[in-house]
Amino acid sequence: MKITEYIAVLRENVKQARNQGKTIVLIPTMGFLHYGHLSMVEAARQGDEEHERNYIVMSIFVNPLQFGPNEDYDRYPRDLIRDSRLAQEAGVDLLFVPSVQEMYPEGESLTTVNVTKVSAELCGAHRPGHFQGVATVVNKLFNIVLPDVAYFGQKDYQQFIVIKQMVKDLNIPLKIALMPTIREADGLALSSRNSYLNPEQRKQAPVLFNSLRNAAELIQAGERNPEVILNTIEQRIRNESDGQIEYIEIRKAENLEKVEKINGSVVIALAVHFGSTRLIDNIIVEV
Ligand code: PAJ
Repeated sequence: MKITEYIAVLRENVKQARNQGKTIVLIPTMGFLHYGHLSMVEAARQGDEEHERNYIVMSIFVNPLQFGPNEDYDRYPRDLIRDSRLAQEAGVDLLFVPSVQEMYPEGESLTTVNVTKVSAELCGAHRPGHFQGVATVVNKLFNIVLPDVAYFGQKDYQQFIVIKQMVKDLNIPLKIALMPTIREADGLALSSRNSYLNPEQRKQAPVLFNSLRNAAELIQAGERNPEVILNTIEQRIRNESDGQIEYIEIRKAENLEKVEKINGSVVIALAVHFGSTRLIDNIIVEV
């Protein structure tokens, strides 16, 4: 595995791989790698153990632009030595670890990408500027790497929708793949932020997925009223944890529009605070 913090070095390596006829796969992350990240490398490596077809680029960059002033940018967990070992073992070909200076030489980005509508609600309503920061850095990564395909996890479903909209609107010539959410045995979605949870919070956190799964079962059993479903989830989280609910919503999976009646493919998404730790999760239900 090659590792670099420089855009010019990355471009040279990617160019060589492209000239060898390889498909360039980009997996953007903020590091502190867990199996949610590494499963995407595995998926890209599947049936490609000899590294013949795919050239896998993983980026690790804690992007200051997507953190609010009172969020966890400074304390976001970082461990580059462990991350590079895990990335190498998983089969990454090129690990891109730029500095803030390399990505934002002016200290900020004078140009930003703002994807309206799909960014406005859910997480966007509670994290002003967050998706603008995400869209801007991902657009930069796309221009730096010029991948054929980029992988994103369902765990951050709204982020996936925002990126898909950006790619469509700006005619960016690449494919976006949605990868399944990887969970602990008790259902908690893997997240770098789980490391903030104290033992009691960690014990309670699986209620998020348990309540989502239960909601999916109610829908499959015939319930079509979003309010009934949302109330059930809310009650369960209140009863079984000290988590403070930020939002619970049911939206059209395709474009995050509101639904009056559950129909077709919907996503149930939520954000809950355990102390100062904000956790998100979602489930897609088809009826
Ligand atoms: P980060 O939170 O590190 O996540 C990187 C990628 O891993 C995202 O596509 C995310 O959806 C995916 N991911 C995280 N946890 C997962 C899980 N449990 N199962 C499956 N996939 C999971 O998302 C970001 O970083 C940033 O916003 C980024 C896109 C890198 C832009 O800065």
